[in-house]
Amino acid sequence: GTVVLAYSGGLDTSCILVWLIEKGYEIIAFLANIGQEEDFTEAKKKALTLGAKKVFIEDLRKEFVEEFIWPSVQANAIYEDRYMLGTAIARPCIARRQVQIAIQEGAEFVSHGATGKGNDQIRFELTCYAFQPSIQIIAPWRMPEFYNRFIGRTDLMQYAKEHDIPIPVTPKNPWSMDANLMHISYESGILENPKNHGPPDLFQMTTDPSKSPNQSDVLEIEFKKGVPIKVTNLNDKTTISSSLELFEYLNKIAEKHGVGRIDIVENRFIGMKSRGIYETPGGTILHHAHMDIETFTMDREVRKIKQGLSITFSTQIYNGFWFSPEGEFTRHCIMKSQENVEGKVQLSVFKGHVYILGRESPKSLYNEELVSMNKQGDYDPSDASGFIKINSLRLKEYNRQSKMNPK
Ligand code: ARG
Ligand code: SIN
Repeated sequence: GTVVLAYSGGLDTSCILVWLIEKGYEIIAFLANIGQEEDFTEAKKKALTLGAKKVFIEDLRKEFVEEFIWPSVQANAIYEDRYMLGTAIARPCIARRQVQIAIQEGAEFVSHGATGKGNDQIRFELTCYAFQPSIQIIAPWRMPEFYNRFIGRTDLMQYAKEHDIPIPVTPKNPWSMDANLMHISYESGILENPKNHGPPDLFQMTTDPSKSPNQSDVLEIEFKKGVPIKVTNLNDKTTISSSLELFEYLNKIAEKHGVGRIDIVENRFIGMKSRGIYETPGGTILHHAHMDIETFTMDREVRKIKQGLSITFSTQIYNGFWFSPEGEFTRHCIMKSQENVEGKVQLSVFKGHVYILGRESPKSLYNEELVSMNKQGDYDPSDASGFIKINSLRLKEYNRQSKMNPK
């Protein structure tokens, strides 16, 4: 049979590629460019040398930004109050293309190098099944004949030597990384002890905030339907309005000022807790800016419902259900909530932080005259007496029962 293998060019998936050939499969290697640092030409050459009969290098950066990052920004998607889901949203993007290739090339199998303990296996495979119910999945790290043979990295190295698989020249960091346009995650190895600090040389997408410039960058971000459509740097007048470049520019500014680092323990879908360090530079700026323009333009009660949907959506994303009936439904509702989320936010990026400075919007529900301390507006203050009295009714009744007293 033919297998479309999600190939990274690294040691693990190189060994998997050769191992699958040894088992009699034909291999189509698939490498998605979602903005990670990678020599794609080199990786393609390597896959062909190892025996892949075809290699697909796919630039998915624009669709990653427009179809996955933007909806997450609209949703204010955050898992367990802190994680911006940079790996979780990349998986459905990659796997969708992988399964498309499988269909197009008539391959019955797809394969990946995710471990049997994590979230990624779930996200990859649920996406594949959602688009191609008949697909068969080969997950070597869940197959005893594979994981009993390759217990540690030394076994992989040994296998590589025996099979002329080029061994990475740069020594491997004592942690694992997953990188894309939106974020880098660092997990496992020396980070598995949750008490250990992430070493200073860990971070690749952000400057240490203690070494960042003493001069802020002041940006204006314009939104339409909850999506950023234009960024202007008010310091130097740089203006960008195409999606991928805009996001990359925000990454650059956030990198310079050390914005977007977190260190958390989270709950994996599979049931265990894991420790991760993440940097999400541009995404963090957008998160703050979007929250600001959203509250400015959205009705209070709609916002409350939408806040609940945000948590629901984040869980769906984390657990691998981006492409699912419930995922589609949540995205649809969130999109509807964004119709009036429009306007400009000005903010300063400085020493690891994003400071909102001001906002304006043609769709704002803010009424300066109404809220002003100096003007009456279309409002009768004596109405508030009745409002408060009626609201106090419940409290008075409760007092009768509970005898709440101020001591
Ligand atoms: N814990 C994060 C998540 O589940 C990051 C996973 C990183 N994946 C990886 N293959 N290194 O989304
Ligand atoms: C992996 O297990 O492959 C990485 C971690 C995760 O998927 O949660």
